[in-house]
Amino acid sequence: MKIAVLKEMRTGESRVAASPESVKKFVGLGASVAVQSGAGAAAQFSDDAYRDAGAEISPSAADAAQAADLIIKVQRPTTEELRVFPKGARLAAILAPYNDADSVGAYARLGVDAFALDLMPRITRAQSMDVLSSQSNLAGYKAVIDASAYFGRALPLMMTAAGTIAPAKVFVMGAGVAGLQAIATARRLGAVVSATDVRFAAKEQVESLGANFVTVDEEAMKDAETAGGYAKEMSEDFQKRQREFVAEHIKKQDIVITTALIPGRPAPQLVTSEMAQGMKPGSIIVDLAAEQGGNVELTRPGEAIEIGGVTILGFFNVPGRLPADASSLLARNIYNFISAFWDNEKHEFVVDWDDEIFKGIALTRDGKAIHPNFENASEADADEAQDDAPAEDTTDDEPSSSGDQ
Ligand code: NAI
Repeated sequence: MKIAVLKEMRTGESRVAASPESVKKFVGLGASVAVQSGAGAAAQFSDDAYRDAGAEISPSAADAAQAADLIIKVQRPTTEELRVFPKGARLAAILAPYNDADSVGAYARLGVDAFALDLMPRITRAQSMDVLSSQSNLAGYKAVIDASAYFGRALPLMMTAAGTIAPAKVFVMGAGVAGLQAIATARRLGAVVSATDVRFAAKEQVESLGANFVTVDEEAMKDAETAGGYAKEMSEDFQKRQREFVAEHIKKQDIVITTALIPGRPAPQLVTSEMAQGMKPGSIIVDLAAEQGGNVELTRPGEAIEIGGVTILGFFNVPGRLPADASSLLARNIYNFISAFWDNEKHEFVVDWDDEIFKGIALTRDGKAIHPNFENASEADADEAQDDAPAEDTTDDEPSSSGDQ
């Protein structure tokens, strides 16, 4: 069984789907692993480190993918990358099929069985395979670090001979995996932190991290969580009251970090232009939802901008701004997934199509789209499978020319 690890081709993607550690473990299972030369360079994993772990280093993607049974990647392959996939190969990556449903048809036509790791069901058994959690956790941390780098002040209370510096006030909107890590990081740095969410369960989690939970309606929150643990879209009335509350609360904040998402829908808009402009000069907003349309009206996706003294960071691929750790965790998630379905006698990955995990993540099987949300994809015209540039393709995260940072 040959596993191929390809170098990511999408602009700015610095992560890689395998680490020397995961390669060593795959080899330990009896797999052969081919790593495209340079695949780990941006994540500080050298070809030599992969070679020492037991991988064969291939000079090109085509060489690595040749006769591969399983190809592992970070992001959805481009049309050009797909050309080197052998028929019948399996693909595991963060495929984001909702951002490009046509890609599902492309996998089907190529006879590639594709597994979207980002659709991993949120069940206890799959926690160690959950790529969204591992990456969101790092994004939440990095959001605070990015905010503090742009902030012209310190975060903690400082008592010096020259006088006292007040602690920064940080407000986190959305207390899921990223939000909770942002809260914990900001607290560690000494900020005074408040947070909000629409799910009732979030209140206790926020408070256990030492932050103040704020909301407009605790009763309405009791019905805001789906069985899968995600948020539902709130009523228009709740959203209106939430906006009024946020408009007031935000005026007193130094840093706002927004992380709110609703699966399958555009990110809810939580901070209007007027609210952002009502913040004190020098304030920072980090919009972690920028790739899904943004929680902040003024966010310029992929950019850092300054408007009226308020800096708004809308970076794409925030986990990719910590490429070594993001890759290490992703590699472990992928190893945990593959090894959970490994036949130790035949030394191969065996798909159990009836397992809840594969029902959640399998997009295609034997040339057909099988995921319930993309079943018609196999019939789509081949020409429609565009190698477009969906949100996560770009990580043009330097300040724009209009930014003053
Ligand atoms: P997410 O990335 O989909 O959304 C981020 C946060 O935004 C969520 O907490 C959501 O409730 C919140 N949100 C949505 N609309 C909002 C609004 N209008 N105002 C304020 N906040 C809003 O969520 P994530 O981080 O994926 O976590 C969702 C839940 O899943 C959490 O309870 C988490 O603990 C749970 N989880 C469970 C796992 C498992 O059991 N395997 C693994 C990972 C997360």
